[in-house]
Amino acid sequence: MTNNSTKRRVFGLQILNSSHRDIRRLKQAGHVAELHGNKFWNSSFLLMNHLKRHPLKKHSRVLEIGCGWGLLGIYCARNFSARVTAVDADKHVFPYLKLHSELNGVKIKAEQSSFQHLTKTWLSKFDVILGSDICFWDDMSIALYNLIRRALQAGVKQVIISDPCRPPFTELASRCQEKLPNARTVSRRMSHPVRASGELLIIDNR
Ligand SMILES: C[S@@+](CC[C@H](N)C(=O)[O-])C[C@H]1O[C@@H](n2cnc3c(N)ncnc32)[C@H](O)[C@@H]1O
Repeated sequence: MTNNSTKRRVFGLQILNSSHRDIRRLKQAGHVAELHGNKFWNSSFLLMNHLKRHPLKKHSRVLEIGCGWGLLGIYCARNFSARVTAVDADKHVFPYLKLHSELNGVKIKAEQSSFQHLTKTWLSKFDVILGSDICFWDDMSIALYNLIRRALQAGVKQVIISDPCRPPFTELASRCQEKLPNARTVSRRMSHPVRASGELLIIDNR
């Protein structure tokens, strides 16, 4: 990781710190996240580290759910020429996503929607669904389980969700492993370029 006071580079991506003038400008313009999408969360780096070792197919159609500032999607667009759509329930995250996608030279399609509203027909447009740190309230566990089931029925080939192992995520992971044929969790810890630990829930649609 390279770092100066307002910018850093992680996994080849440029990231602006909260003190950067463009981030401060967006906050002053009233873009204040309402559902914790106020920064890049470290679980996204755990998932990037996994994708570095297990790359996606070039030009995969990727959906990032609960994208926040969208770094995972930006990583996929840059490294796998993925066609990325990012969704989040909170519209205030999108200016930060746009800022970072432009900074990193990629285009991401962004849409405001919540887990519950992504239909099977709409999900059928994607090969892979990714999400990081999106299961932190109790009701998210069942909403995400239902979303994963719809995605598998729609033909999505793989779903990966990373998390620092909050209880709703652990419940989601247990439910998936109990009820879905190809669901597994893997524990991950990294100290470089960012310190992070947690689990990945990986569901393959075979
Ligand atoms: C902890 S942040 C993680 C953001 C990003 N994935 C990351 O790792 O940096 C959780 C994100 O999920 C979004 N979110 C919360 N509930 C949601 C829902 N029901 N549907 C879609 N997005 C949701 C929030 O707006 C926020 O951006």
